[in-house]
Amino acid sequence: MDWVLHDPQHGAYGSGRLRIGPQGDFVTSPSLGGDFSALLAPQLVEWLLPLLAEQAMATGERLALVESGPGEGTLALDLALVLARDWPELAKRLELVLVEPNPGMAARQRQVLRACPLPVRWSSFEQLAQAPVRGVVLAHEVLDALAVERIVWDGTSWRQQLVRLHADAAAEPSLRLEPGEPLEPSVLSRLKPLGLLEPNPQRPEGWCTELHCAVRPWLDHCAAGLSQGTLLVVDYALEAWRYYGPQRSNGTLMAYRQQQACSDPLVEPGTWDLTAHLCIDSLLNDAEAAGWQPLGHCRQGEALLALGLAERLHGLQNLPSSGLEEAFARREALLRFVDPGALGDFRWLAFGRGVPNQMPRFRREPGPPTNR
Ligand SMILES: C[S@@+](CC[C@H](N)C(=O)[O-])C[C@H]1O[C@@H](n2cnc3c(N)ncnc32)[C@H](O)[C@@H]1O
Repeated sequence: MDWVLHDPQHGAYGSGRLRIGPQGDFVTSPSLGGDFSALLAPQLVEWLLPLLAEQAMATGERLALVESGPGEGTLALDLALVLARDWPELAKRLELVLVEPNPGMAARQRQVLRACPLPVRWSSFEQLAQAPVRGVVLAHEVLDALAVERIVWDGTSWRQQLVRLHADAAAEPSLRLEPGEPLEPSVLSRLKPLGLLEPNPQRPEGWCTELHCAVRPWLDHCAAGLSQGTLLVVDYALEAWRYYGPQRSNGTLMAYRQQQACSDPLVEPGTWDLTAHLCIDSLLNDAEAAGWQPLGHCRQGEALLALGLAERLHGLQNLPSSGLEEAFARREALLRFVDPGALGDFRWLAFGRGVPNQMPRFRREPGPPTNR
């Protein structure tokens, strides 16, 4: 997964081949227009302003709005435009920092962000750790692109699932998923909190799923780059009991291209996006272990309604009749953001470092335990 997504020459993101948006390979909320950023901005301001007011704010220091995995750069640009227009005093003390490991994507972001009204730079979390910033980190649909480990139940034990290249003289070479070695004890220990070590007669031989081994290192790196502030993760995610329930027998790994979904992760490697849902319980555990304080989580539909989506929808009727086409497009996008069968089911999860009272506006209490 890492290879086919991120190889600089052959990877779907590494080469910059994938396109995000209605005319591209798949849509994300920010790619549907500026309303998403306009709704998100007040929440970011609520997190940033207390940092600005702090005594610790050194003269000349800028707060950072960091985006990990900025894709086309649309979310970063739209947020910068809203902040510069509606919160100019804050914007004067703000910089954009983009964390993008794929050169092909970074090249496109540079083009889009030529119009950015804030200072902007590209960095890695490792570089940020040399001089950590204070501010907000956004991870919008990026953790689902981190490589997962696939595991398979063989009827008596858990094994790694491997990708094997089959090549014999008689047939075209092909890739197949096959069971590998039994899991090492260090990996097996990750299965206990997910309920996978308890015998379950409903789980048939060949049942397979994913583990999110790359999320904890990402959270560690992100924490090292942010000395104080908030992290907002927005992504496809499921509670552990849903993710690892016996009925979900093939995990969540999916391929996307040209607005088509495909359940075969081995299809034409390097030309499709590959994505796996996050497990909410694993993410919460990993975040806490990495020093992030959970501030609350909810579905995107709830978050955006709490941030004023209904009022924005209502406000469309004030557009002049010459703006009917724009009003229809924005109405469709706003409804897609909250559609429980689509983007509305995404999860928003907020975490803090050194900001104990910064509950998000969309959720005043930390989320309830996510068991049945
Ligand atoms: C699905 S796109 C999301 C784009 C954008 N955030 C949006 O929602 O429109 C995933 C982005 O994450 C980047 N990416 C993949 N792995 C990453 C990593 N480990 N760290 C940061 N960015 C990564 C990809 O190159 C791409 O820009």
